[in-house]
Amino acid sequence: MKLLVTGGAGFIGSNFIHYWLSHHPTDRVVNFDVLTYAGHLESLQDIQHHPQYQFIQGDITNEEAVNAVMAQVDTVVHFAAESHVDRSIIDPQIFIKTNVVGTSVLLNAALKYKIKRFHHISTDEVFGHLGAHDAPFTEASNYRPRTPYAASKAAADMLVRSFFETYQLPVTITNCANNFGPFCDPEKLIPRFITNLIDNKKVPLMGQGENIRPWLYVKDHCRAIELVLERGIIGETYCVSGTEHTNHTVTLKILELLGKGESMIEYVGHRLGHDFRYALDSSKIQRLGWKPEHSFDEWIQKTVQWYQENEWWWRPLKQGRPVVDRVAQKNYF
Ligand code: NAD
Ligand code: TYD
Repeated sequence: MKLLVTGGAGFIGSNFIHYWLSHHPTDRVVNFDVLTYAGHLESLQDIQHHPQYQFIQGDITNEEAVNAVMAQVDTVVHFAAESHVDRSIIDPQIFIKTNVVGTSVLLNAALKYKIKRFHHISTDEVFGHLGAHDAPFTEASNYRPRTPYAASKAAADMLVRSFFETYQLPVTITNCANNFGPFCDPEKLIPRFITNLIDNKKVPLMGQGENIRPWLYVKDHCRAIELVLERGIIGETYCVSGTEHTNHTVTLKILELLGKGESMIEYVGHRLGHDFRYALDSSKIQRLGWKPEHSFDEWIQKTVQWYQENEWWWRPLKQGRPVVDRVAQKNYF
């Protein structure tokens, strides 16, 4: 297989490239990434000289660059996106450009170069949010995105589906829960809290920490993508779930693992339009043969340990970066 991975220098993309090369060492992997603030080649430095791996710096909204790389591959796994909800609240436009326009440029090129499979990585956030007792979302749930990030991902999903219906482009989609694990940028909840606490800084918990997210260890997401590439039905969508916890529970767990007390929590205002709960029903992908292998309790502990042992990776990312989301909270609350 000749695989084009877009956004391979990001959190999930870099984990996926590691996973793919270790499980499919004879496949060729081209990582196409423009390297925004969220793209870190350091996450891939151990495989940078792997004979089957190539990095190309390029923008998915650039038609010429995308056509050039598409001509070299037969399969696409499309991760590249603006991915942080708080940033989308401050500056929605870049989310529309990257997530919607970028996806459409890739789809056009995939059609032109007769790509055998276009796998699109999406999120549960396209479905909107749930009350505490609502049934989890399924593949049949309506799209009701509530943030600019979720709306841009929903639009991208619709474009992907339309290219299947209209042109029979062989597509598949996975809508996944919140991922955690190594190489996740410290702007997201779990790595932000771990790295703040390592530095003995307080952790900004929104509201009372009552919001609920389903958490999945990133390797289980990679395994789900692999399964859908191998056995997924063309044109179909698969929901990939995780274990639900309130943000407060996740925070207490991280505090405990780092030997810190609850006084390290700083309760801050909610983000605008803060989605209360995400939950997914994974029955469909489970029928294909997927089930998570990494429990939350065991792998959050390993994740904390990874951040403790890999300061070289995250410390430069925290230095000199404006904490844009906190600024927004202070403006609005
Ligand atoms: P990330 O923000 O860590 O990485 C995104 C990567 O895309 C970065 O390397 C960035 O440089 C690259 N990129 C951004 N704009 C680009 C452009 N115009 N051209 C080329 N590359 C560009 O994101 P992530 O958390 O790894 O998420 C990857 C995908 O998975 C996204 O599509 C996201 O919507 C989806 N997803 C993420 C989660 C999660 O919990 N992180 C959950 C479900 C789905
Ligand atoms: P995040 O990691 O940004 O993922 P998403 O918004 O895509 O689910 O946030 C996860 C949850 O944690 C969400 O309910 C917002 C909350 N949160 C905080 O309380 N404090 C923070 O500093 C961050 C980044 C998130």
